[in-house]
Amino acid sequence: MARMAMNAALMMFLMFGAVAGQAQDSAEATIQYRQKVMQGNVAHLIAIVSIIKGDVGHVDHIVSHAESIAGSLDMLSDIFPAGTGPSSGVPTGALAKIWEDPDSFEQLIKDAKAEADKLVEVAATGDIEAVREQIGSVGRNACRACHLDFAGKVSYNLQTVPTE
Ligand code: HEC
Repeated sequence: MARMAMNAALMMFLMFGAVAGQAQDSAEATIQYRQKVMQGNVAHLIAIVSIIKGDVGHVDHIVSHAESIAGSLDMLSDIFPAGTGPSSGVPTGALAKIWEDPDSFEQLIKDAKAEADKLVEVAATGDIEAVREQIGSVGRNACRACHLDFAGKVSYNLQTVPTE
């Protein structure tokens, strides 16, 4: 009996495994997903800024917000597969240059990750002034640096991304 239950569990596992293996994310789903990841980035950045400005307390939340940004930048290499650019016909701010110059794009992802990792480190020290400076650096050297060349018109108003 126990063996039968185990076999059933194994069958389920194998079936779901096969389904997951076959799943082909559509361009539309991928684009919408990565836009959500990006919206998360800006939300965490702005949340940190509200804390720094003193609009809200929660200084002890800064590290977690910074970690969320760093974590989502780790996802960037996965969420721009070929076929999800302007030629997909789906509304996207991703420019064709991402796939024409993948080395530069990857480099910007690495640079952005380094900036976000530094934000996590600085946040952990609790030095608010240093966090303020590093947030500006993230805005300029991570977000804006990539958007300038690789993101066209995006649905979110990026004027709100803090760069200083
Ligand atoms: C390596 C390149 C790169 C980096 C780094 C990057 N972005 Fe983006 N971002 C893009 C691209 C490309 C798009 C367009 C995605 C799409 O529409 O398919 C985008 C879109 C966005 C959007 C619009 C999402 C929507 O609703 O359409 C926001 C907001 C955003 N990014 C914020 C940020 C913030 C904040 C950072 C820094 C923490 C950041 N991005 C870092 C490339 C980047």
